[in-house]
Formats: sequence, structure tokens, C-alpha cells
Amino acid sequence: MPSTSLDLREDILRLKKERNAVILAHNYQTGDIQDLADYVGDSLGLAYRAQETDADVIAFCGVHFMAETAKIVNPNKTVVLPDKDAGCSLEESCPADELEKFINENAEKNYYVIAYINCSAGVKALCDVICTSGNAVNIVNKAPADRPILFVPDANLGAWVMEQTGRKMDLWQGACYVHVEFTRDSINRIKAEYPDALVVAHPECTTAVRLLADEVCSTEKMVSYCKNAPVKNIIVVTESGMLHRLQKEAPDKNLIPGPTDRCACNDCRYMKMNTLQKLRDCLDKLEPRVEMPEDLRKRAEAPLLKMLEQSK
Ligand code: 13P
Ligand code: SF4
Repeated sequence: MPSTSLDLREDILRLKKERNAVILAHNYQTGDIQDLADYVGDSLGLAYRAQETDADVIAFCGVHFMAETAKIVNPNKTVVLPDKDAGCSLEESCPADELEKFINENAEKNYYVIAYINCSAGVKALCDVICTSGNAVNIVNKAPADRPILFVPDANLGAWVMEQTGRKMDLWQGACYVHVEFTRDSINRIKAEYPDALVVAHPECTTAVRLLADEVCSTEKMVSYCKNAPVKNIIVVTESGMLHRLQKEAPDKNLIPGPTDRCACNDCRYMKMNTLQKLRDCLDKLEPRVEMPEDLRKRAEAPLLKMLEQSK
């Protein structure tokens, strides 16, 4: 079994060729995985890439709901995730049975249900349309004007979208455990250290933190924001893996990780479960695979395709 990272890289590239696989990686993956991937991006870009690929195998370096999304749009392809336990606190905050109960108990409201993509296939199947942080404003703007909106599961993203669109929505009270760690105090402290810096934050941050940001956007939009920013110092308030991608794309910028009250930057423990060794092993064994019953897949596919169509 290869042990050095060079051996692992060579092995991964060999297996990728043998399997006719594509490696898709989220912006929060470790640098060594990002550097090997065929595509690195945000949830929206990854969903499009997964839909377009003609590979036989998708090795999805991200968290489970992202790999599941790739499977939903590719029922005949093999989708593998290096670590099957790579979950998401937002997904956990909204179990499908609880959402179904809530929708049924409020049937008279006839909610138009919009689900942030950070949720299970079971939740997607209960919704009218899906959104990502990259297109949430656009998707909410396209919602029917005569129906109340239920937005699940991220209350912070939902609050930001309400501000951006002026549309009132009922919000499921879920949160990303990584982004709520940034506080007004922790961001003010780093701003005091770099008074000329611009601040870019992910919309999963709390309102108090978002209000300190010069720009609020998806991880992919952070790339163009940092490239085009008219200053050198930029404070990046999101998960730590983003810094690797940004430093590659905007090498002339001084990118400062947004600190929390506990640490200098913030890791998502789920994203960081994937390693080069596990990527190699999943390409070798074609396990762990993402599978789901066909009727569930079909019900989850409809709102996902609606999103992909509406955000073109
Ligand atoms: P993006 O789609 O902006 O990359 O966000 C995904 C995510 O999980 C953020 O925590
Ligand atoms: Fe989920 Fe937060 Fe991790 Fe993104 S950073 S995958 S929202 S727990």
C-alpha cells in the first residue's frame, strides 16, 4: 500500500484513469485533494459538473449531501465519497420526517417550500425547489408571489435572503455549526488589526457577522471578489479550506482567515474527514457508494432540476 503523499497521488491518478472517474472537490477540501481534483467549486458549480460529466465514476470529495446530489442527477453512474460519515450540521438539523410533519400540520398555508441544498434527499423530495448560497436570491425572487415561503434548513442564509429580496419567509431554525462560531467580537478584533482590509463572509454566518462584511456570497463568488478587490488585505469569514483555493486564484492578495473566539480559523470536521488515502481507497474499492431508492431519487430530482433550470 502506498504511503508517501507522492505515491498516493500517483495511485489516485492511475485509478482515476482505470475507472474512467472524475474527481469533484468542494472549496473546503484540504489543499492536497483540491490540487488533484478535476474541478473545485461551490455546491452549485459541483451540481452542474456532476450533471454534465460523461465519466463512469464520480469520486466526490465533499460532504454526503453533495455526493447524494451528484447521484440524484446521475442514477446510472457510480458515486463514491471518501468518507461515508462526512455529514453536515445543517442536514442534521432538518430530518425529513420532522419537515413532513410540519408541512402536514400547516397544510392550510400551502407553503412553497425552498430547501437549501445542504439537506438530505428525503428533505429535497418534500420541496418545491432547491437553492444554493450562489443562487438563493435568484430562486426566491422566482417563487410564486401568491404563496407563503417556508425556507429550510438554514435560518441564517434565510435571513440574508429575506434582506436581499424583501420577501418574507418562514425559516426552519437550522444552522451551520462552523459559520455560527464567528462572532461580532472575533471579526471586530481582526478588523482592528487590519483596518484597511475588506471583509467577505459566507451567508451562513449570523446577521451580526454579516453586518460587518463588505461582501456576503457563496464560496465560488469569493474567488472573483478577492481577485477583483481593490485592496491587498482581505478577511475571509468562512471555512479554512477556502483559503487554499483563494490563495491560488488571487496570489497577489493577503488573505486573512476570519478567526473565531477560540481559534485563528475554522475547520468543518465533516469536510476534513476526507483524506488522500481515503480518496485512493474509494477509487480502488468503489466504496463507500452513495445509493438511494429510485422513487426517492425521482422525487428529489424534480426540485433539483428546477433549480438547475432556474439558475441558468
Ligand atoms: P457553497 O455552496 O457556498 O460552497 O457553500 C457550501 C457549504 O456547505 C457552506 O458551508
Ligand atoms: Fe455543513 Fe457547515 Fe460543514 Fe458546510 S461548513 S458542510 S454547512 S457543517
